[in-house]
Amino acid sequence: MCGIFGYCGQRRAAPIIIEGLKRLEYRGYDSFGIAVMDQGITVRKKQGKISLGASDLSRVKGKMGIGHTRWATHGEPNNQNAHPHLDCHDSIAVVHNGIIENYAGLKRELQARGHGFRSETDTEVIPHLIEEEFKGDLAAAVSAVLPRLEGSYALLVIATGCGEMVAARKRSPLVIGIGDRACLAASDVTPLLEHTERVIYLEDGDIASLSTGGIEIRHQGTRVKRPVQKIDWSLAEVKKGGFAHYMLKEIYEQPEVFSSTMRALKEEEIPDILQDTGGVTLVACGTSYHAALLCRYLIEEHCGIPARVELASEFKYFTSPGGDLVVGVSQSGETADTLAAMQKARMFSHPTLAVTNVLGSTITRLADHTLFMRAGPEISVAATKSFIAELAVFFHLVDRLAGGALEHSLGRGHLAIGEALLQDLSQAVDLCRNAQSMFFVGRGPFYPLALEGALKMKEITYIHAEGYAAGEIKHGPFALLSPETPVVALCPPGHAFPVMFSNIKEMKARGTPMIVLGVQGTQDLEEISDVFIPLPDGGIISHILASAALVQLLAYHTAVALGRDVDQPRNLAKSVTVE
Ligand code: F6R
Repeated sequence: MCGIFGYCGQRRAAPIIIEGLKRLEYRGYDSFGIAVMDQGITVRKKQGKISLGASDLSRVKGKMGIGHTRWATHGEPNNQNAHPHLDCHDSIAVVHNGIIENYAGLKRELQARGHGFRSETDTEVIPHLIEEEFKGDLAAAVSAVLPRLEGSYALLVIATGCGEMVAARKRSPLVIGIGDRACLAASDVTPLLEHTERVIYLEDGDIASLSTGGIEIRHQGTRVKRPVQKIDWSLAEVKKGGFAHYMLKEIYEQPEVFSSTMRALKEEEIPDILQDTGGVTLVACGTSYHAALLCRYLIEEHCGIPARVELASEFKYFTSPGGDLVVGVSQSGETADTLAAMQKARMFSHPTLAVTNVLGSTITRLADHTLFMRAGPEISVAATKSFIAELAVFFHLVDRLAGGALEHSLGRGHLAIGEALLQDLSQAVDLCRNAQSMFFVGRGPFYPLALEGALKMKEITYIHAEGYAAGEIKHGPFALLSPETPVVALCPPGHAFPVMFSNIKEMKARGTPMIVLGVQGTQDLEEISDVFIPLPDGGIISHILASAALVQLLAYHTAVALGRDVDQPRNLAKSVTVE
């Protein structure tokens, strides 16, 4: 949830760390801090966003340092709780992403032994524990402390008098960058692109010592070599490129993302486990869950395989993992609940498949097979292009398993998204921006799209929005309908159309403003709509893709009209690495 970044090299570390943290800010943005080593350790911390308040930190001297941008879990976001955290003598500094579950007991023990604490965080126990073990070899001290920590961590540690920065991970991501006479470490690859395209993904349990002399990685006391991987994301992809927000840029990238994911998958073999399976269980969170839910309809219809879809966070409470094959869907590949679900599937000896956007992410190491989407780096907290890329992966699989049943429509998918991007949504935005509460409704594959539309709307506009299966609206939510509660109805042609049409009329009869997405000329859909948003002609695949882009854009423009912080909505973080 937080972002960590470290640098050790020939240049002044502080400005490099600050730029690195700015690229990680989407992971957490309530406070930030740096610790830089010169004669001793200089620490600077601040509440708020790094993009707004870090200019004076760049002057701190020193060529090695660590930094952190926080998404608070223990203790409110303020200067004391911001990382880095220090030991009693200000000579050991630690930044941490993750949660130390047994910190309360450790803190009591440390206090009893005379350690003074300055924050309410779980992290602060770590520098104090290292202080007790440190006898000049920092990596050895860290390695002695790690077995005492329960929970998850990606850690960077520096200590006065040590020319190395120590990195360690367990169930939280950490990537090492190999620069020109410099080593870097970060929560993900995006801040490393400015410095290098060569990275090493640390494994759980690895402890790395980084210095200008190179990188040494140990696992359970033994020196190990991890593969150096080349990142194929470009620096341009992590910049805004003239768009007002990353979210808008990422929405506009979707036609290309859809096509490039399709192109890349065509070259790949379908894993045998998919061809032979008698049933699948898909596990995911948030937007990825909606993508999985949508694809269930297509898998069952075209492949004749039973498909079950579960929220990854609930999966652990079921006694059986369900279908033969368990598929984890995660843009980041680091979502704690999805990883836990994959682990459970492995425990039950089920074959596993990961669908992810991030090479080297943890899910790729848990799964028997991985299918990569080609969305490129997604910076905005709200997932958009990764949703389209997830759909592309599933559409492709369904098509291959169903002997080319979708081939014709898939070739036109990018055009449908492109057409959607041209629509003027200003009238719909005017209806939404004044609402306190709203609904999104649909049937069949358009029900998960209704869920996704509502999720986008609530997360970036803060308007209370609920996604509902249209048939469920009469089972309770009808009581909430009023002229102040707009409803977005997804109503493309198809076998659900007649009943959706009746549902829209029923809602309209309660005075509810209706924003309807449909194809022009289908019955008198336009006449019964307050605002009608046309979908392109074409089949269900075109309608799904266009609807997805339209609900994203509706949320985006409404958020802009309300003056919201579109890319970094309050209380959220992009990568949810704690359960
Ligand atoms: C919503 C959003 C989240 C993520 C969810 C899963 O816009 O971004 O709901 O979809 O946290 O993330 P991944 O796909 O990385 O597992």
